[in-house]
Amino acid sequence: MEIKDVVKEKYGQAALRVATGCSSCCGAAAATLDCCDPITSNLYDANQTTDLPDTAVKASLGCGNPTALAKLNPGETVLDLGSGGGIDVLLSARRVGPAGKAYGLDMTDEMLALARENQRKAGVDNVEFLKGEIENIPLPDNSVDVVISNCVINLSADKARVIGEAFRVLKPGGRFAVSDVVTRGEVPAEVRQSMLLWVGCIAGALEEHEYVRLLAQAGFESIDVEATRVYDIEDARQFLTGQGVDVDAIATQVEGKFMSAFIRAMKPSAKGCCGPSCCS
Ligand SMILES: C[S@@+](CC[C@H](N)C(=O)[O-])C[C@H]1O[C@@H](n2cnc3c(N)ncnc32)[C@H](O)[C@@H]1O
Repeated sequence: MEIKDVVKEKYGQAALRVATGCSSCCGAAAATLDCCDPITSNLYDANQTTDLPDTAVKASLGCGNPTALAKLNPGETVLDLGSGGGIDVLLSARRVGPAGKAYGLDMTDEMLALARENQRKAGVDNVEFLKGEIENIPLPDNSVDVVISNCVINLSADKARVIGEAFRVLKPGGRFAVSDVVTRGEVPAEVRQSMLLWVGCIAGALEEHEYVRLLAQAGFESIDVEATRVYDIEDARQFLTGQGVDVDAIATQVEGKFMSAFIRAMKPSAKGCCGPSCCS
């Protein structure tokens, strides 16, 4: 099976669990259907989630809180890559207001159905969930002010293409503001080889310098990777146990190697442009 098929199957199951009243379970735990790992828990403040549908909050499978760290202005267009149950799309819609728009993009039918139901419950009009793949974003060039994403790019088998697509759809001066799991230095090959750990956002994680390199290669500037959570051996034990990895044998090789990070970058403004407003 291709990675994409496995990812669709696992996240489809997670969406169905929420739709039937359970929590989605999270991160690496999504692979084992066990709850709740140190990656996905406690990401949002109560003041962000109070007015959201319970099923949007329960479906959260991210590793950060991109809308809390990103600058979003009224009237802007935001695109969330791999929007899942839609939590960050609904939060973005609130921030950009009725004059703005928040798109969610996801390839998994069950997640799209859940996200659309969450939009209906939230009663917001400035939101649209699109079906598609983050490697082929179904939006025109230069059409989006901010690309956000929460723990999804690590799942792609073609990260350079995803980053290139994000660059294409961003307007000149547009911002890339993404939460993701990244690694610091090399991690053991046995971790990289596990399909379940790939689905759980671990095995596919980019090394932090490689992330920067791919962003620069696509044309982004002002690139910054900020660690938001660095996982110690006990955290690693939680997401590696049960995945066929002898955690104690590789303890020193995983301690501090995995982190959730907020990755910022900017598409250069158009030549001769005096500021963000004159480019739009
Ligand atoms: C870890 S969940 C994160 C969901 C959401 N961002 C959140 O924070 O709750 C990954 C989501 O990305 C979607 N996804 C994974 N790979 C994708 C791809 N290549 N194209 C489109 N969607 C993808 C999955 O269907 C799933 O809904």
